[in-house]
Amino acid sequence: MKPVKIGLLGLGTVGGGTLTVLTRNAAEIARRAGRGIRIAHAAAREYDPALSGLDQVERIGDDAFAVVEDPEVAIVVELIGGYSPARELVLRAIANGKHVVTANKALIALHGNEIFAAAQERGVVVAFEAAVAGGVPIVKAVREGLAANHIEWIAGIINGTGNFILTEMREKGRDFAEVLAEAQALGYAEADPTFDVEGIDAAHKLTILAALAFGIPLQFDKTFTEGISRIDAQDVAYADELGYRIKHLGIARRVADGIEMRVHPTLIPHRRLIANVNGVMNAVLVKGDAVGPTLYYGAGAGALPTASAVVADIVDVVRTLTSDPHNRVPHLAFQPKALADIPVLPMSEVETAYYLRVSALDKPGVMARVAGILGDRGISIEAIKQKEPGEGDTHVPLIMLTHRVREGRMDEAIAEIEALEAIKGDVVRIRMETLAG
Ligand code: HSE
Repeated sequence: MKPVKIGLLGLGTVGGGTLTVLTRNAAEIARRAGRGIRIAHAAAREYDPALSGLDQVERIGDDAFAVVEDPEVAIVVELIGGYSPARELVLRAIANGKHVVTANKALIALHGNEIFAAAQERGVVVAFEAAVAGGVPIVKAVREGLAANHIEWIAGIINGTGNFILTEMREKGRDFAEVLAEAQALGYAEADPTFDVEGIDAAHKLTILAALAFGIPLQFDKTFTEGISRIDAQDVAYADELGYRIKHLGIARRVADGIEMRVHPTLIPHRRLIANVNGVMNAVLVKGDAVGPTLYYGAGAGALPTASAVVADIVDVVRTLTSDPHNRVPHLAFQPKALADIPVLPMSEVETAYYLRVSALDKPGVMARVAGILGDRGISIEAIKQKEPGEGDTHVPLIMLTHRVREGRMDEAIAEIEALEAIKGDVVRIRMETLAG
């Protein structure tokens, strides 16, 4: 059989990695796909001329639209990232009857509903394994491997840069900005690193995971997003003393009233496997009713790990080239007509436990006042700890762990605590999850 011809958009970190993997493992990949894979046409504004595999590219230019219009190209591999012109390129490729492989989580999270509808209509596949957790095959696991299950919840460390920063801060007491610069130099961070540290990248990925798990449309705008930029070293240390690690988690949970979709720093018990996922590694915990809790772990960023997922998608698409479009795995796991309109809960209705830290005037009765405000709202305290005052300090850190409560009720309690004269500054609130199976 003749080789399949692909078009490559972008020769940056992931594009370069994809070229390396496709050429280095060409023989084995062809044995898996059943056909050879040739890179007919690549487009990049700039690239490293020493890139391995470049000699195997039949044509290189700087016009991405020329690739999606190239009649020789059967599969377009979009690795330029960002919303535009990625959206226009992908839609054009689909309109031209080409299959698409993309690593672009922002594109899928925001424009996936439109893109999948267009692909469905045209009978082509849009594959996006690399969009979530880099090299970890979590899309395939949730969409296909767990297809028997009623999925109850997903909790994942799905941003390598953020996890790298939190790990270095905890283990080495390193400075936030310095670790971020290192992640950028290593090619882990997004073009705009605020996407990593403010949780937007993780929210893109969580939006995709929630759609796959619960059979709902992609709804990025409904994903609650809080970053790690305000995590203080003292909270990392206090959490440790209490037996917890702070991880930046993406959580999607099905509850009686709807679906929770949230990204925020989270205290998790240190004995959980996922609490020990460090550095740039990603891990996703998925709880299905039949299988129980399952954990998927691996490199979530970087050239070759992400290329591993991109090339696996290319192989998948090559294998489906001869299959009837109606009998393919649906893009979002559930048949498009069977997607459900389950409400996504606002954060005020989400129920979780909390770590709270206040700076309290060191005098009798203050702790009781704070505990009283929580008690008045039925918020039960699991642990309370007062730290020693520093030399000459009038205020002391007071740390509390609470039982689960609706966030709206906790908001009211926090507002009342902050209004006390004996309390200095804002209450630090970090959500807490046990992640028990
Ligand atoms: N910036 C992302 C991360 C890259 O750090 O995880 C992979 O999506």
